[in-house]
Amino acid sequence: MPSSPTPQWHWQPWPAAERARADGAWTAAHAWLASLPGMPAEALPLQRDGHGRPRFRQGARMDAGWSHSGDGLLLACVRDAVLGVDMESERPRPKALEIARRYFAPAEADWLEAQPAARDLAFLRLWCAKEAVLKAHGRGLAFGLDRLAFAEREGALVLVEADPRLGDPASWSLREFVPHPGYRAVLAWRPNTMHG
Ligand SMILES: CC(C)(COP(=O)(O)OP(=O)(O)OC[C@H]1O[C@@H](n2cnc3c(N)ncnc32)[C@H](O)[C@@H]1OP(=O)(O)O)[C@@H](O)C(=O)NCCC(=O)NCCS
Repeated sequence: MPSSPTPQWHWQPWPAAERARADGAWTAAHAWLASLPGMPAEALPLQRDGHGRPRFRQGARMDAGWSHSGDGLLLACVRDAVLGVDMESERPRPKALEIARRYFAPAEADWLEAQPAARDLAFLRLWCAKEAVLKAHGRGLAFGLDRLAFAEREGALVLVEADPRLGDPASWSLREFVPHPGYRAVLAWRPNTMHG
């Protein structure tokens, strides 16, 4: 089990046969979580809340999430924090600017517009960052992509503005990474004092 507060993650292939099963990721996530050293047996299974977000039982002091994209599944778990994870496969995003102008914060769209050569990757990073925070919060995209804004600081995305329901932007930690060649991912987490 990961020690506080850095999330632990695991990438695994996600073949078509697994994707075809409605509970495939759920089953894979439970197998991985159960294999983590120190995972209490009574912590599993997770429950889905009313919005579809997987959750440990109240008081378990852990959080977990996963994301599937292309042929990959990314699983993550953390102790004493609220966690969101998103992964996307790298591919051309011809509508990146159009989507950003419609759904992102204006400053984010400006940032994308200013870098035509690197726009696809920048869009992917922003998208993963937004989804990771929104999945951690638990309402997903329905909460609104424009309710949180990121800016690049020294090469890394930082949450600079957020709806008060997402908490203090400065309380969020972000990890952008390549979990497997051809994929980009973001883990977003913040301390969860409610668990403790
Ligand atoms: C649900 C949602 C977060 C999934 O994101 P995605 O990029 O399409 O897919 P990902 O592979 O990254 O993530 C899927 C996982 O997110 C988790 N998830 C589902 N609903 C979630 C929520 N409200 N908050 C956080 N995580 C959620 C699940 O574990 C799901 O995997 P599983 O169904 O195999 O168990 C996104 O589609 C969304 O926000 N949709 C709008 C809200 C919605 O339609 N909810 C449907 C339930 S009412």
